[in-house]
Amino acid sequence: MTDIRGRRSVARAIALTAAAAMAVVVSAPASGQAPVRADQPWMDPKMRPEARAKAALAAMTLDEKLRLIFGYSDQALTELAKVPDDVVSPELKSYVVSRLVKGSAGFVPGVPRLGIPDQTQTDASMGVRNSFIPSTALPSSLATAASFDPEVPRAGGRMIGAETRATGHNTMLSGGINLAREPRNGRNFEYVGEDPLLAGTMAGALIEGIQSNRIISTIKHYAVNDQETLRTTLDVTISAAAMRQSDLLAFELAIEKSSPGSVMCSYNLINGRWGCENDYLLNTVLKGDWGYKGFVMSDWGAVHSTVGAANNGLDQFTGFCCVADKPWFAPPAMKAALQSGAVTQARLDDMVTRILWALFAKGPVDDPVKVTPIDYAAHAAVAQKAAEDSLVLLKNDGNLLPLRGVKSIAVIGGSADKGVLAGAGSSDVTPVGGAVKVGGHTYLPSPPLDALRRELPRTRIAFDAGADPAAAAAIAAQSDVAIVFVTRHNSEGSEASLEMVDNQDALVAAVAKANPKTIVVAETGGAIYMPWVNDVPAILEAFYPGIRGGPVIARILTGKVNPSGHLPISFPASADQLARPVIAGLGEPDGTPAEVLYDEGAAIGYKWYDVKGYKPLWAFGHGLSYTRFALSDLKAQPDGRSVRLTLTIRNTGKRPGKGVSQVYLAPADWRKVGWEAPKRLGAFAKADLKPGQSKRIELTIDPRLLAIYEAANNNWHIKAGTYRLMVGQASDSPMETTEIALPDSLWSASLNH
Ligand code: BGC
Repeated sequence: MTDIRGRRSVARAIALTAAAAMAVVVSAPASGQAPVRADQPWMDPKMRPEARAKAALAAMTLDEKLRLIFGYSDQALTELAKVPDDVVSPELKSYVVSRLVKGSAGFVPGVPRLGIPDQTQTDASMGVRNSFIPSTALPSSLATAASFDPEVPRAGGRMIGAETRATGHNTMLSGGINLAREPRNGRNFEYVGEDPLLAGTMAGALIEGIQSNRIISTIKHYAVNDQETLRTTLDVTISAAAMRQSDLLAFELAIEKSSPGSVMCSYNLINGRWGCENDYLLNTVLKGDWGYKGFVMSDWGAVHSTVGAANNGLDQFTGFCCVADKPWFAPPAMKAALQSGAVTQARLDDMVTRILWALFAKGPVDDPVKVTPIDYAAHAAVAQKAAEDSLVLLKNDGNLLPLRGVKSIAVIGGSADKGVLAGAGSSDVTPVGGAVKVGGHTYLPSPPLDALRRELPRTRIAFDAGADPAAAAAIAAQSDVAIVFVTRHNSEGSEASLEMVDNQDALVAAVAKANPKTIVVAETGGAIYMPWVNDVPAILEAFYPGIRGGPVIARILTGKVNPSGHLPISFPASADQLARPVIAGLGEPDGTPAEVLYDEGAAIGYKWYDVKGYKPLWAFGHGLSYTRFALSDLKAQPDGRSVRLTLTIRNTGKRPGKGVSQVYLAPADWRKVGWEAPKRLGAFAKADLKPGQSKRIELTIDPRLLAIYEAANNNWHIKAGTYRLMVGQASDSPMETTEIALPDSLWSASLNH
């Protein structure tokens, strides 16, 4: 897509070979073997990161400190020269321009004299985004969340972290975790679903995987940045309790699990204060209650002041460039704020200490990144496994799938002859093998049509692009089976309506009428409406399935892989089920002030449907398999404030497969104990089982999932009473249940980790 602020298009215009780009290497001090210089004690990896940061800070001049808090976007390469020399000095300009990794998201200069490396930043959660360097595209984050298995994003994170390092970047802008409060949010594909526990677990695992490469990862966008429309001017009104039990809980869980080096504050306002100068979110909750030691970096263009941002918790202004942006954290502005006393030296030192802490604790100082070759084949295998564990079989009437003994297939629509769809925006990976552009959208070069032909060499497979429903129906009528691919493009900076575009609903309806054995494969960023849901016997939700999407779709349709994904979001049945019929500000020009009241509070997704008594099109947690699983022997016992439980999952079908146990919690009277909804996801686990095999699973419920947040005293509070524990294979499936009586329990929400 065209970049919202034009920076990526500028980057693309720069004529630079990949080889030249790869030659830009971050320099940093030698680690390990080299003796630590007596005058640089902070270079000793055996020292604690806190002590190293303190010692390095003490050695820094004011100008050196100011380098670390102000970063540049890659537009600097062409635009920085236009910035007056008294804002960014000529020395700094040439340093930035000579060392920025071309095509990356941004750059923060280091202090070579002291061994402090530059921060070379790249997006994002599906892979390295550098327009000059091909990378491996994982399935969308929403897809990997559907695996219900944190090992999937962890392995994906290890892989993209390795590519981050091997392409000369040491800071990943990866770990998108905004809850799918708004099913039309154009960025839901970059996030990890609608439930705080699932999202926190999956994003936390991704960040852990990335940071295992001794680089920094960045959880984002903090916080409640749940729609794209007017994202830079939207003021979100939401109560503290609702936030703590929903969006913030997702962040809290992920940060606890993975300790990301940085947190990116968001574009929007929350309760009247910008995300990047929000005292409550940044100082009170993140750095106070959660004891976060890393630094807060701004989203690109999300800073609105010097003093307000600095004092309310922003540590680093990132992505500056160059003419339109105001240099709020550039040396002259920050020096003036220091001189007037509006920002204290202690606050500046805190900003720098936090950045240094991340650089020491996460690896960039001791293990400087350098450009090395990438094993793309091995990495594609990681992306393939991720997709195999994540695609969701929504419907399979009469066990039409897996395909057996089929002589002829009509493959229709969705550019299935060209590739699989990807989302757009700052997560846009330049894929290995080159992007295929169809109607301005990026398809990854992994055509399902070719893969199906490879999997089924003896089957006659015809293809029709699907432009004319009647023509497609005619081909479908002559085939044993029809497979219709439908696609829904989503992008940063805009929303996606839930209706399919380009006459695709009519296409499915026409094909289904012509051939009762019609299978729909949906490549979508998130939920869609399916007006044809009752007309087709089988539906596979493929999301954006990544660089090996084609083979994975073919392997699932033919039974080589048994599907095991479960929906990380609810699919609404119709617009009247949405919490807000119209997205706030939709259609208004960018920059228009807008407001939205999130009065559904923490009742997001399935919780909203439960409160309202709505039946969604597809429920959170839903997903079919080619085998069957039985859940039994659920036992629970209190364990301090937590609850420990055990249950048995057995594969009762005829094929090996992976079954997901989902434990939901339900107070006897949810309104009485102050919950936002009748039930919450409390734990989940995936088990790989042969036919007849069973496994005893042990799980622990985090006490916060049993509690409410009480703002008055900043407490978590489990209200005494009976709580039902229910285990099923979807939020709307039959459940095995047990009950437990819990005593009243109250504890501080501060430093609760
Ligand atoms: C996005 C961020 C991204 C940044 C840098 C912004 O537009 O909101 O997610 O990390 O750009 O590319």
